[in-house]
Amino acid sequence: PTIYIITPTYRRPEQMPELIRFAQTLMNVPNIHWIVADDANTTNYDVVDYLTYSSIPHTYLLTPMPEKYKQLSIKPKGVANRNGGLMWVREHATSGVVYFADDDNTYDIRLFQEIRYTERVSMFPVGLVTKAGLSSPVLKNGKFHGWYDGWIAKRKFPVDMAGFAVSVQYLLKMQNAEMPYKAGYEEDGFLRSLKIEPEEIEFKADKCTKIYVWHTQTKKNGPSQRTILQSKYNGTNLRILE
Ligand code: UGA
Ligand code: MN
Repeated sequence: PTIYIITPTYRRPEQMPELIRFAQTLMNVPNIHWIVADDANTTNYDVVDYLTYSSIPHTYLLTPMPEKYKQLSIKPKGVANRNGGLMWVREHATSGVVYFADDDNTYDIRLFQEIRYTERVSMFPVGLVTKAGLSSPVLKNGKFHGWYDGWIAKRKFPVDMAGFAVSVQYLLKMQNAEMPYKAGYEEDGFLRSLKIEPEEIEFKADKCTKIYVWHTQTKKNGPSQRTILQSKYNGTNLRILE
């Protein structure tokens, strides 16, 4: 089965290094289709050129966040991107598996072997670099027992975006399944819309004892002086990405 990897991305100084790092991982994974969904109104040719160079089967989508959400202080990040990716899958795929892979996480290629044979919805641990250290289903005697996560809240599925996969066939059956524009509740809302119960989840990664994906973050630096720097070097070899 093909794995459809939906990756939200947006223009910022970290964008190219994040995508390069992830692409280098994906170059080692067979039978994938990488859907890179850009939160932008215009094509970013740095991204497109790199995708072409990588030879990874891919689709580049423009999936801008609607203006009304951009004004919020806590934005629903990556939602327009993921719903756009889901629409593409619904139109183009009849089998396979969907996985939401943020551009800034750290992926072990064994993850893709684990999720490739998802029948409906699979779940597995995600390493966190926070105090909690981990987000994972809790199993006892191999059966669903509960959840471990730094922030359970009132979520039915208190899991990380990187901690689950869905089969295309199941997704196609769930015609209304989509991700809500609700910061903090994106995973929960989407998984609820799949109408699955925790007991029915397929638990991967050696019964959730292995960590094959980490939720990581790249340190941000203020991009403020970049435009000033760039203008100073107009007409030279230097091109400073925004
Ligand atoms: C966490 C979750 O893991 C995300 O899946 C979730 O979307 C996000 O929180 C959220 O706040 O809703 P976090 O590491 O805090 O992730 O968020 P980012 O990595 O900054 O963004 C998640 C994804 O959305 C990334 O792939 C990023 O490239 C993309 N993004 C972010 C956009 O497309 N537009 C934005 O304005 C911000
Ligand atoms: Mn992130």
